[in-house]
Amino acid sequence: MSSSHFLSFLFLSLLISGIFSDLNADRAALLHLSETLRGRTLGWNTTNSTPCSWQGVTCDTTVNRVIELRLPGYGLSGEMPLNSIGNLTELRTLSLRSNSLSGLLPSDIGSCTELRILNLENNNFSGSIPTTFFNLNNLLRVSFSGNRLSGEISDAFNYLIRMRTLYLENNNFSGSLPDLKNLSQLNEFNVSFNRLTGSVPSSLGKFLASSFLGNSLCGSAVSLSPCPENNNLANQSDKLSGGAIAGIVIGSIIGFFILLFVLFMLMRSIYRSKKSFRQVNVSPTPNQVLSSPHDSIVIENHDIENVFSERKGSKRKVCDDRTKGMVFFGESFELFSLEDLLMASAEVLGKGATGTTYKAYLDREVEVVVKRLRNVCVSEEEFRGKLDELGGISHGNLVPLRAYYYGRDEKLLVYDSMPTSLYAVLHGEGVSKEALTWVIRSRIALGVATGIEYLHSLGPKVTHGNIKSSNILLTHYYDAYLSEFGITQLISSTSNSKMTGYYAPEVTDIRNVSQKADVYSFGTILLELLTGKNPSSVINDEGIDLPKWVKCIVEERGTTQVFDPELIRFQNCDEEQMVSLLHLAISCTSHHPERRPPMDDTTRRIKEIFR
Ligand SMILES: *[C@@H]1O[C@H](CO)[C@@H](O)[C@H](O)[C@H]1NC(C)=O
Ligand SMILES: *[C@@H]1O[C@H](CO)[C@@H](O)[C@H](O)[C@H]1NC(C)=O
Ligand SMILES: *[C@@H]1O[C@H](CO)[C@@H](O)[C@H](O)[C@H]1NC(C)=O
Ligand SMILES: *[C@@H]1O[C@H](CO)[C@@H](O)[C@H](O)[C@H]1NC(C)=O
Ligand SMILES: *[C@@H]1O[C@H](CO)[C@@H](O)[C@H](O)[C@H]1NC(C)=O
Ligand SMILES: *[C@@H]1O[C@H](CO)[C@@H](O)[C@H](O)[C@H]1NC(C)=O
Ligand SMILES: *[C@@H]1O[C@H](CO)[C@@H](O)[C@H](O)[C@H]1NC(C)=O
Repeated sequence: MSSSHFLSFLFLSLLISGIFSDLNADRAALLHLSETLRGRTLGWNTTNSTPCSWQGVTCDTTVNRVIELRLPGYGLSGEMPLNSIGNLTELRTLSLRSNSLSGLLPSDIGSCTELRILNLENNNFSGSIPTTFFNLNNLLRVSFSGNRLSGEISDAFNYLIRMRTLYLENNNFSGSLPDLKNLSQLNEFNVSFNRLTGSVPSSLGKFLASSFLGNSLCGSAVSLSPCPENNNLANQSDKLSGGAIAGIVIGSIIGFFILLFVLFMLMRSIYRSKKSFRQVNVSPTPNQVLSSPHDSIVIENHDIENVFSERKGSKRKVCDDRTKGMVFFGESFELFSLEDLLMASAEVLGKGATGTTYKAYLDREVEVVVKRLRNVCVSEEEFRGKLDELGGISHGNLVPLRAYYYGRDEKLLVYDSMPTSLYAVLHGEGVSKEALTWVIRSRIALGVATGIEYLHSLGPKVTHGNIKSSNILLTHYYDAYLSEFGITQLISSTSNSKMTGYYAPEVTDIRNVSQKADVYSFGTILLELLTGKNPSSVINDEGIDLPKWVKCIVEERGTTQVFDPELIRFQNCDEEQMVSLLHLAISCTSHHPERRPPMDDTTRRIKEIFR
């Protein structure tokens, strides 16, 4: 390449990557917003060439774009213009809560496809949610509560499959609640005080009645009135008769299909009776097939699976030959046997005090994590009782237990497989920590805290017992899931089982970890996220642990000396948030258990820090 070609190439790539122009465009979009809105002046210094130092604005210097806009309670009023928020296409967080913004939500918000957190609560927005909003499939938390939004709650929310929090309370939504069956991670949900009618769909049945207050909803949730039968049918036919033409068209289509179906069934039964006259009374539904012992030879594998997938309930003990001894939990599972598991190709993920963990590749491209427990010291009855408890626990930050096997020689636990762990991304060989931005690390911290808080809320004795970064699993999007909760209580504490750097000083037996000791371990995780150091390896020659090291350095040289240099080098991090989190981590790792805050306090404080 000649030098002039090279120069023009360089120039072109600069132009394309738009190193300067992107921030300029974001700056123009923000100025457009501030000029349009009324209310308290934002005090943005318009002579600055970039918006990155403006109040409420956060940039990411690796992409040279604005990634956060937080202006809560700034007394802003007026309507949000087009070409403002919609032009900030790298935005991760938008919080304009507690202002007096009114009018429609900007329809170009659908351009902000990177949005994770959208908080517009306590404003005066009206109209319906724009359809482009449902493009935002990275959204994790959304709050529109306390506005005057109206229209139906669209079933297009099903496109936002990563959503964990959806707050729509205190608006003017009407119609029925859609079945949000795609939102498997949803664990905070509120539609109270709208004008909703009809039944609560089964996908939302896990939420308590306090999520549905002040509507005309019915359903099985506590204190909601039960739904009268045929209600839905009656209303559906009301709708049909509303449009006479539509009714006729739909009616004839349905009629046509019924005719087809009847014909099909007729042909099928003729065919079957010809095929084998030895089979008497062949019934088309698998349930009936199973209940009749004579017909067991006609059961095909897929019939068995159908029967099981139709069964409701959280626990299934599967007793046919293929899956002997495995106990499965949850709504959906893969049928596999002990042999399948033991024959599967597997890779060792790690060895710890509780046993060895493998990733097993079953056929049908199914991947599961198998934990082979060592030194189980409880009776079979106690073991099964404990695992039934653990299998019933479901939360958006906990890795669900899918199945277990109890045998004389083997005790196995089966979990969902996840792409990676916090340990691997922080300390793995040849892994760049560049992706672990402050925003990502703070989300991991909050996710883990929420999971532990949930466990602790189940009872004063319920603990995780083994919180460490290798038990914090991450999705491709760095959503954090805690794994292996509650199993140290099944393991005998042998004298040589090592106390890792995560255990609180008062813990002498890993079977006996208090909630305050969990808080200590969590504090160590926070320190690990902030410093990038591995708590289970010795920090310096004197062999002191991570919490002690941090306390020493903070006292001697100040807070900024402890932070992970990679965190500071790669992006502009919010130093105020980092220092606040450091102080919280230090109080969680207090030597005295009674000085550590309880987990619900800890989570609340983290939420305040990142608000
Ligand atoms: C927003 O983007 C559009 C097209 O991408 C552009 O025409 C418009 O000028 C931008 N508006 C502002 C205020 O930057
Ligand atoms: C605004 O920023 C310019 C430099 O970009 C600076 O010289 C000026 O002092 C700032 N004004 C205020 C009020 O901070
Ligand atoms: C909300 O907007 C309506 C008109 O759009 C106005 O009448 C009302 O006062 C506003 N409420 C608040 C709290 O700003
Ligand atoms: C539910 O999620 C699947 C992908 O997992 C997607 O293909 C489908 O369109 C979603 N359903 C709705 C109604 O959005
Ligand atoms: C609620 O929506 C209805 C139309 O669906 C409208 O007539 C009514 O004024 C709205 N109420 C409020 C408080 O905005
Ligand atoms: C059915 O419609 C009636 C009014 O026509 C309404 O009161 C009731 O809540 C509706 N029920 C359902 C399940 O939609
Ligand atoms: C839902 O919102 C209502 C009204 O703000 C509140 O009373 C209720 O406690 C909330 N429920 C949940 C589960 O957050």
